Amino acid sequence: MLWLYAVVFILLASAAYAAVHGAPWVPTRRRDVARVLRLLDAKPGQTVYELGCGDGRVSVAIARQTCAKVVGVELSLAQWLAASIRGVVYRATPSYKEGDSAARGSLRFCLADAFSVDLSGADAVYLFLMPETYAKLRPKFERELKPGAVVVSYVWPIPGWTPAERDHREGTEDLYRYVR
Ligand SMILES: C[S@@+](CC[C@H](N)C(=O)[O-])C[C@H]1O[C@@H](n2cnc3c(N)ncnc32)[C@H](O)[C@@H]1O
Repeated sequence: MLWLYAVVFILLASAAYAAVHGAPWVPTRRRDVARVLRLLDAKPGQTVYELGCGDGRVSVAIARQTCAKVVGVELSLAQWLAASIRGVVYRATPSYKEGDSAARGSLRFCLADAFSVDLSGADAVYLFLMPETYAKLRPKFERELKPGAVVVSYVWPIPGWTPAERDHREGTEDLYRYVR
């Protein structure tokens, strides 16, 4: 029984660490996922990073609907496990298994700190973290992202950057699109 307490403790501790280090887990609203996809405007074969991918629902939607190569990055063990299971389920669907490999995108979930992943290969990045984390990530984006890479942030703008587009709808959260 002690092992069960140990597992629960590790899961809670890693979620608490992620909450302090970037943001607690709160999913993007389902009704906003289509707006995220529109702003990312990812094309088949492009590489999209979701920093702090939570349970992977947005990453799976991106892979399924854009056929991009999606990398979900998550610091909390529990969320990463949930995302990985979601990824396995997605890959087991008949439409994925029977689909043309070039036309269904790819999906990978990494247990890692968003601050430590190399973003030089990213064509687009999606993030829903705390506003102070956006400010801390900005220098990394400026160093690593290639010209033309798209960054989409949910709820809050990235301090110091001017968005190419702000998607504002009554009754839900704002989205901001930036082009490097
Ligand atoms: C607000 S939730 C957003 C989840 C998901 N992106 C979505 O929109 O449904 C933030 C997620 O980022 C994770 N997180 C926080 N800090 C992080 C960091 N430094 N690196 C990677 N993931 C982080 C949290 O564990 C949490 O799952």
